[in-house]
Amino acid sequence: MRFLPRLGLSAALTLAAFLSWRLLLRTPARRPPGDLSPKAEGGFTLTLDTFLHIQQLRKKRLRTFCSQAGKVTALPSSRDERASLLPSLRVNTKLDFLYCQAPSTGVEEWHQLLEKLEEGSVTLPVPLPYPRLRTKETRLSKFNQTEIKAMLGSYTKVLFVREPFHRLIATFLQGMGISSSFSSFIQEVLDSGMHNGSVAWKPLVSLCRPCLIQYDYVVMFGFLGQELGHLLRRAGLPGDSLLPELTDSQVQWTYRWLSEQMFSELSAQQKKQLSHFYRWDLAAFPFSNSFLSDHTSTAETWEK
Ligand SMILES: *[C@@H]1O[C@H](CO)[C@@H](O)[C@H](O)[C@H]1NC(C)=O
Ligand SMILES: *[C@@H]1O[C@H](CO)[C@@H](O)[C@H](O)[C@H]1NC(C)=O
Repeated sequence: MRFLPRLGLSAALTLAAFLSWRLLLRTPARRPPGDLSPKAEGGFTLTLDTFLHIQQLRKKRLRTFCSQAGKVTALPSSRDERASLLPSLRVNTKLDFLYCQAPSTGVEEWHQLLEKLEEGSVTLPVPLPYPRLRTKETRLSKFNQTEIKAMLGSYTKVLFVREPFHRLIATFLQGMGISSSFSSFIQEVLDSGMHNGSVAWKPLVSLCRPCLIQYDYVVMFGFLGQELGHLLRRAGLPGDSLLPELTDSQVQWTYRWLSEQMFSELSAQQKKQLSHFYRWDLAAFPFSNSFLSDHTSTAETWEK
């Protein structure tokens, strides 16, 4: 589609952005809210067994990734170091969840869900073997080391993941980059580097520290409805009826199409640099068919 004139592409992007925006923001009543009973979503049904099997595969892949040298695996003893290492980690001390707040991964919907669960004064089915903290504080790094260790050991830890190039497109469409074109936005991302990068595009591995935090669930954008349904049921929560309308499986096709268009807008150099920038995410999570995987020249640095 390289021959697509720029004007056509802009128009297409505007349309796609509009469609995505509508899909992402509206709350239509196409199906009863929270109707998550193992019925088709995106044309397939995820059984509990399959869900658990997929979780095992994702976590196995993560463990393999984490067994390579140079990963952060220990909780720092200094408060300042913890604050700089774990700024995106959030906890809900009432419902005992720990999760990573990476924008555009589905975590916003998760937030809404937790709020509704709290309003509904849900009680956890199993009494906990430690004193409850029950505070409004949600930033993990604000707690002391003893508390953090207790949380890491007992909370249900959830990681939301999404293919890095789709995250970039979502950020660009939301206008968070001030750039005029996608290519200059990507340049901005690349120039900001690993250290000064915005949470909107920082690699998930550095935002969420999946080698330090042993996540119980790795939830994939595109399958949120069914995966969160199983997760909530397993946590003994009545979330099914409260889950907000999730449109991630419906916007996937738009993003796949956009990826193709927008990837072709980038220079060979940018493609290579992006692949390098996200190489750890691509290694840690199963993003099949990522455009970025084809350009990883550095796969050998983790694959031995
Ligand atoms: C951590 O905070 C708790 C209060 O939640 C306090 O009882 C405990 O002494 C603190 N531990 C340390 C090591 O500061
Ligand atoms: C990050 O930004 C600060 C100031 O904005 C700058 O001094 C520093 O060099 C930047 N670091 C990198 C790695 O770009």
